[in-house]
Amino acid sequence: MAKLRYLGHSAFYLEGREIKALIDPFLTGNSMAAAKQEDFNDINYIFITHGHRDHIGDAAAIAERCGSTIFTCNELAGWFASLGLKTEGMHIGGRAAFPFGTVKLVPAWHGCPVQENGELRYGGVACGFVIEIEGKKVYHAGDTGLTMEMKLLEDEKVEIALLPIGGYYTMDLDDAVRAVGLIRPRLAIPMHYDTFPVIKANPREFAEKVSRLRLAAAQTMAPGAEFAF
Ligand code: NI
Ligand code: MN
Repeated sequence: MAKLRYLGHSAFYLEGREIKALIDPFLTGNSMAAAKQEDFNDINYIFITHGHRDHIGDAAAIAERCGSTIFTCNELAGWFASLGLKTEGMHIGGRAAFPFGTVKLVPAWHGCPVQENGELRYGGVACGFVIEIEGKKVYHAGDTGLTMEMKLLEDEKVEIALLPIGGYYTMDLDDAVRAVGLIRPRLAIPMHYDTFPVIKANPREFAEKVSRLRLAAAQTMAPGAEFAF
């Protein structure tokens, strides 16, 4: 049995045999956050989709305290490694096996700077993750526009797709519905909305549209909500 908990924005806690993970753990300074970084003491893996602050979040502090390994694209992994943290610096298209299952990095159309002391440096490219645990695949899209690359994910037979719906920086609600039509996961869950004024969106409208078009099951998660799969 695996567990998924929504922490607000694009942050999730994912648990299975051999894995207690955070994805994009933006907790400090996140008005939607359902947890504090100090709440996590046994995280063994952290997944970072790209270098923006609302995704890196508390990753370095948690990784340092818990000894977690950080999965992200190779260039951004180099920056985390320079802080003395453990990393898996994979890249787009790569899949590898780990004690808990497999990880594949997939394309996301978005930026990925390293932000340090008010300076922006090259941080590689943004990515999404297909994480297989307990034989089931969770796709976290990161920040991305709608892209035909998502059609390739249909072959992955994704169990749960976590998709941004807030627009402005990413796909909006209607493009996210189209993304579900390309990916055809069993279950679609919206993320990356309401945290900032420019990304206001109604997650229930997303779930309703996905269901009405019979593209997948859809479910909204309030920050702090959790379910087993
Ligand atoms: Ni971003
Ligand atoms: Mn973002």
